[in-house]
Amino acid sequence: MNNNKKINRYKRIYAQLEKLLEKNDDFEARMATVIAILHHKIDYFFWTGFYFLTSGKLIVRMYQGPVACMELKKNIGVCRKSINERQAIIVNDVAKFKGHIECDSRSKSEIVIPFKNRNGEIIGVLDIDSKTINSFDDIDANELEKILKLI
Ligand code: SME
Repeated sequence: MNNNKKINRYKRIYAQLEKLLEKNDDFEARMATVIAILHHKIDYFFWTGFYFLTSGKLIVRMYQGPVACMELKKNIGVCRKSINERQAIIVNDVAKFKGHIECDSRSKSEIVIPFKNRNGEIIGVLDIDSKTINSFDDIDANELEKILKLI
């Protein structure tokens, strides 16, 4: 898919979410709605969900896709790296990422975006997996960051 098409698709999703989220300010309802829309509107999203920091542990929250690890091992993995580096991490091929935590062997590439509260503190991550390598790029990272701010 060319870049313009991809950006336009994200723009349409953003507009749809903006409208939907006007209806309720419940934090969890908003998170669930974002996950549902992203997962069903973007064909290469195989697993779409949140991990939240709870007493230092990364615990799964709402998601769509196959059953995932409920708690991630400490100090390794893509999610943890994104939190430690306070930035989006794109993994083109999970087999080449040392310490990648595999929840489903069908996942081949991954993007993780830090999820910050209003004070700029990282409270968790948005994690998305794809069944094919090289699925994610800077467009996904930038657009997903914008969408997270809607919540
Ligand atoms: N691969 C992630 C773990 C979560 S699953 O992708 C759903 C990681 O290495 O942190």
